[in-house]
Amino acid sequence: MALLFQLACVCLLAVLSVRLYGAISKFFSVDVSGGRGRGRGKDIEASEPSPVRSTVRDEKPAIQAPERKQNRGDGIDPIKDLYFKLQNLEIYSEEVLPQARELLISLFSESLTDAMQRPESGILSIEEYTREKLTKFLQEENDKTTSQWEEYLARRASGSPREMFGDRQEAMWWLKQAAPVKYVDGAWLGHINKVTTPFSLRRITKDAWQVMSEELGDGDLEKNHVHVYRSLMQEIDSGLPEGHTEDFIHPRHELDEERVWKAAIAQLLVSLFPHDFLPESLGFNMAYEGLPLHLMKTVKELQELKLNNYYFVLHISIDNSDSGHSAMAMEAVIEYIEQVRKERGDAGAEQAWKRVQAGFVLAEGLPTTPECASLKKSPAASFPRNEHEAEVIRIFSAKAPVAHKIHCSSKLKIGRRTLVQWLEPVAFSSKQWQMDFLDDLSNRKPWIIKGDSSKSKLIQELGWEGAMFGSFTQSEVEVVKRWIDSLGQTDYWSFVSRTETQPTLAKKDIRIDYPVFNTVSLQQLQAPSLPFQKHAHIITENVNMNKFIPLWFTSPCLLEGFVSIPAMTANETGSAIVRLLRAQSGFEIEGPGVAGMDEIRRTDVVGLVELGLELMSTGNLPRPANLKETLENRDDAFAITMLSISMKPLQYENMLLGLTWAFTQLHEAMASSELLSSASRNILQQIARRERCALDVCLNALQNNEAAYSDFCQGYALGKSQIDSCCQTIA
Ligand SMILES: [Fe+2]
Ligand SMILES: [Fe+2]
Repeated sequence: MALLFQLACVCLLAVLSVRLYGAISKFFSVDVSGGRGRGRGKDIEASEPSPVRSTVRDEKPAIQAPERKQNRGDGIDPIKDLYFKLQNLEIYSEEVLPQARELLISLFSESLTDAMQRPESGILSIEEYTREKLTKFLQEENDKTTSQWEEYLARRASGSPREMFGDRQEAMWWLKQAAPVKYVDGAWLGHINKVTTPFSLRRITKDAWQVMSEELGDGDLEKNHVHVYRSLMQEIDSGLPEGHTEDFIHPRHELDEERVWKAAIAQLLVSLFPHDFLPESLGFNMAYEGLPLHLMKTVKELQELKLNNYYFVLHISIDNSDSGHSAMAMEAVIEYIEQVRKERGDAGAEQAWKRVQAGFVLAEGLPTTPECASLKKSPAASFPRNEHEAEVIRIFSAKAPVAHKIHCSSKLKIGRRTLVQWLEPVAFSSKQWQMDFLDDLSNRKPWIIKGDSSKSKLIQELGWEGAMFGSFTQSEVEVVKRWIDSLGQTDYWSFVSRTETQPTLAKKDIRIDYPVFNTVSLQQLQAPSLPFQKHAHIITENVNMNKFIPLWFTSPCLLEGFVSIPAMTANETGSAIVRLLRAQSGFEIEGPGVAGMDEIRRTDVVGLVELGLELMSTGNLPRPANLKETLENRDDAFAITMLSISMKPLQYENMLLGLTWAFTQLHEAMASSELLSSASRNILQQIARRERCALDVCLNALQNNEAAYSDFCQGYALGKSQIDSCCQTIA
């Protein structure tokens, strides 16, 4: 055997050539070393005025990308750069959108590949979805965490040291390093529940939106999670600027925990294409809202170190699995799968489940927490990472002394070392060494073709007529084969049995796709000279429905974009907009506490879309399935303009508020119109009242700024002129 192994050794060395690592960009790869199966997280926090606001009113002089220092293009700079651009998407949409989608898909694939190493554990263990199985799985996950928590408490009670932070200084470092992910708290749902969401799914996206709404404090700034974290950052003198500004990504802040940035990017990406990846967003949400062990440890240890732990306390309670975000997230998934089953049968539901799983494993695979230097575990601490690796290492460990004695003289390498160097018995007893060996060997083409042992030269050489035949027993060869096969990538598209059918950006239809950035011309925004009136008397008799229907259904889009980036809601205007959107979508009036599952259980949800559907039904018009059908064959020119500018809340902020004011007046008028039932009129009256309260706050904030007020008035005049074109107004 020694002789054969020597031969094998020589042959292997003779063919292998060095390369690997280094040149491979880690840019967007999922953290699979430190994060596997342990990094579940919650995250939060943010800011206020937009980085670059403009009062320009046409597309060309739109907000320009600021002069930016060229980043070095290495390390985490590209990730930070993307973090900034995703939060200022309207400025960088052309550059960012195509790569954002690609990146999201690659993140799904990478996290699925990792999760497929252990398909028997985690969410992938539910091969066939049932509500009962999902409920049981999440309950067991929760139980597991609480048992681990009890064990932790017992360890600490018996004198074990802290497990999150070494000392107070380190805890403060940790809190600051966590800011990138805390400053986008809620962003994983930021683009969900749009006017372009198919009407049959609105109930589900609304439930998910409620989770986000609570992340945003339901429009109460003090309860906004980004705001809470921002206050904490001030308390510890972090010196950090707002999370969506360019300054935030400057190296001088020394925010360099790569895995935190990656987790933040995943949050920003997962809801960016809400129609293309809805079930994935819901799955991601369900994982993110679960209770992670590190959260409970953080609460306890911050308290021990006399640091403010309220942000973390808040997340233990608000995410609870009875009435909180965990329960709401699970319900949204269940409702979604059942809706798909209704529309597309069991096969459709099965595919929906796979897609939920893809989102879930993405969230599970990305640790969100920084790692303190004093407690950092070497990646080798969790090696071997799976049973295949354990078996292969057992074989090589046994062969190492033999191969070493034979003393091969070849200088060819596998990755960083020659095979002889790798198999030096003392060195090979180290876990780190073993892990490096397997990592280098697995990247050594053509000896190893990941996922395909039959094409791997190593297996061919171990077989009959191969130069290494006999050096491994048949069962050992089988072990190596299994290991090679397990290295295969899981492709998102094949995992979810889905074909890529993405239209090119140019072909996207803003009436049904999202996000779509159209050019808006000056002419489209030209407003007649109508003075701003706080109140207007609009007559809703003899309404021109051909114009009215597109306006009614589309106008709720106007402020939707403001909540996509949590940082933009962490101020008084942003919070008022959250309240306004809640009213428009039929959410319950905000109370002193959180609604949680109470909101999900409500069956009488009526917002502007539902009232629009009632109007159509009263007029004997066929029920549309989505906004596109609603606009089809009607005068939708201004509806398209509204959709187009709603994608650019930074550029058109004040104009969008002015437009919304005009539509609030329409809602007030319709609240006494015979076109709606009396119950609906009451509902609309409430909606309009809440809209007006929120808009008053926004108007107060902007009216001393001449340019902002001018834009607001232009928006109002524009909206009012459109309303006047289908309804009468008495001056
Ligand atoms: Fe949160
Ligand atoms: Fe939450």
